Amino acid sequence: MAALSPEDPCSYSRPDECKVNSLDLNLEVDFDSKKLCGYVDLTVERMKDGVQNLILDTRDIDIQKITDADNCQELKFSLGEKNTNFGSKLEVQLPLSSTKSKVRVHYETSPQSTALQWLRPEQTAGKRHPYLFSQCQAIHARSMVPCQDTPGIKVPYTAKVTAPRDITVLMSAVRSEPEAHPTDSSKLVHQFNQKVPIPTYLIAIVGGDIESRKIGPRSNVWTEKEMVEAAAFEFSETEKMLQTAEALMGPYIWGQYDLLVLPPSFPYGGMENPCLTFVTPTLLAGDKSLADVVAHEISHSWTGNLVTNRNWEHFWLNEGHTVFVERKITGRLHKSQALLEFMAAGRAKELKETIEVVLKNGPYTRLIPDLKGVDPDDAFSIVPYEKGFSLLFYLETLLGGPEVFEKFLRAYIEKFKQQSIDSDQWKDFLYSYFPDKKDVLDTVEWDKWFFAQGMPPIIPKYDDSLAVPCKQLCQRWSSAGDNELGQFDPNDLTSLTSVQVVEFLALLLEEPKLPVTKVQKMNELYKLNAVKNSEVRLRWLRLCIKAQWKDAIPHVLDFVNEQGRMKFVRPLYRDLYGWEEARPTAIQNFQTHRGEMHNTTATMVAKDLKLT
Ligand code: BES
Ligand code: ZN
Repeated sequence: MAALSPEDPCSYSRPDECKVNSLDLNLEVDFDSKKLCGYVDLTVERMKDGVQNLILDTRDIDIQKITDADNCQELKFSLGEKNTNFGSKLEVQLPLSSTKSKVRVHYETSPQSTALQWLRPEQTAGKRHPYLFSQCQAIHARSMVPCQDTPGIKVPYTAKVTAPRDITVLMSAVRSEPEAHPTDSSKLVHQFNQKVPIPTYLIAIVGGDIESRKIGPRSNVWTEKEMVEAAAFEFSETEKMLQTAEALMGPYIWGQYDLLVLPPSFPYGGMENPCLTFVTPTLLAGDKSLADVVAHEISHSWTGNLVTNRNWEHFWLNEGHTVFVERKITGRLHKSQALLEFMAAGRAKELKETIEVVLKNGPYTRLIPDLKGVDPDDAFSIVPYEKGFSLLFYLETLLGGPEVFEKFLRAYIEKFKQQSIDSDQWKDFLYSYFPDKKDVLDTVEWDKWFFAQGMPPIIPKYDDSLAVPCKQLCQRWSSAGDNELGQFDPNDLTSLTSVQVVEFLALLLEEPKLPVTKVQKMNELYKLNAVKNSEVRLRWLRLCIKAQWKDAIPHVLDFVNEQGRMKFVRPLYRDLYGWEEARPTAIQNFQTHRGEMHNTTATMVAKDLKLT
């Protein structure tokens, strides 16, 4: 296999030799052939004497020709063999002249591009127009644009995107009014500018029949017409969250903060594309109870998008800090430290399940995993989020509490903004910020925190006052005999918030399997099969599968078929797989729906079902 970068085990590029400084896209969206076609101009700079080639990452990209954009002269190039995890290395012979040049790559994406999902009109809410969206994190940008696809490099970008008139195109950038197409009146040219240098995984595009509603002074929510109202209601606290984040971390520098609610197959809860966060429609609970995902994506505007992990081994710097800030925002908005700690405690239990049961204390349970030869999608889990959060929460207490630590956080962002860093740089800065606390910091078992497999050395003690009623109800259900079910009442859940219901169900999931009679009774009383809240639904359906209640199988299939968020789809498929009687149904359902699924979700579920 072609050599990978010494700086980033998941990229072929060599920015230490020749570095891309900016990127200008000129593309047309072709829904018929499911391709983006056009060219990209890469402004490049030789970093060392004698360097002859520019090395780029690509995956499934059809390169037509490469020229020196200044004089149109063709440049020689060679495309390496395709590696399943990392795609193909593209080597371009640089023009001889100066240290700086502009390389123009004429190319087409493939309908199989792992970054792009192309939806037929029937797969949208409106059913009338096709739809396109991208998801580039972690290493899919290379299947949309030939680029140095490493988060260690940041570039500003511009784009001109041609699309049919009735399609609105948005990108992770500031947009200006679309222009008329010079020759074809059925098309428009959409224009974008991202002046802040960003890593390639933050390049994003969407095209569809979407509309917007203003939800704040710098925010619109975009989605298909059918959902605009619901989305505007659900995310009405966006501006408050932005202001809280600014109070914690300094000014929001990206100008616009818009939200895009995607079609149901979007594989993540949210994606922090600059200027335009992407979110799953499964957040539309109707009561704003799942909007903490927005607080999370907002936080990435600082931790992740301003201060970025240098490569995917240091992903916890992005996600751990972001969860940490997200919870501070949630705590402040609800004026409740107890809520913050309740959320943390709930997720710490999920962390334990993932580390011990799913990942079996294996190599991906390290805070800083070794990703040589590894596709980051395979290593992705809750670990960097919650092990990272645990470390930061523990440090906060150790170093004197929120007042002290929040100042550090702000200084950290100021110090490293617009840079890409690794865990050692973070740690060195921590030591330099607290010169008087070296002794305390030396008591931290850094080696274990960073590199040991399994649970973190310390799980902080969290305030569990909000968990008390959840624990009580869970205890009552798990200890009740079959003839004692009369004690339960449809109103048992009415005094609980939806996060508490999630916690109640999560606690029951940790108990030994319930008899079918109990889950049936629970459904009868609490009408759980009819609950729309996606987080509640996930735990409820997992509980039914654990109880081996056959009647629940169709509900599970409905849920995994009607949305594609991996956080929901993967555990449910894994659970069905583990239940021998349900396994063939699960496999058959997957095979039937695979063609409609997002590429990444389908790839991961196929692995979960041991089909690859
Ligand atoms: N950046 C992530 C999503 C992501 C990570 C996509 C890695 C691809 C590769 C996003 O910010 C995220 O963490 N989303 C979470 C939200 C949650 C932790 C509040 C999700 O999707 O569930
Ligand atoms: Zn995140």
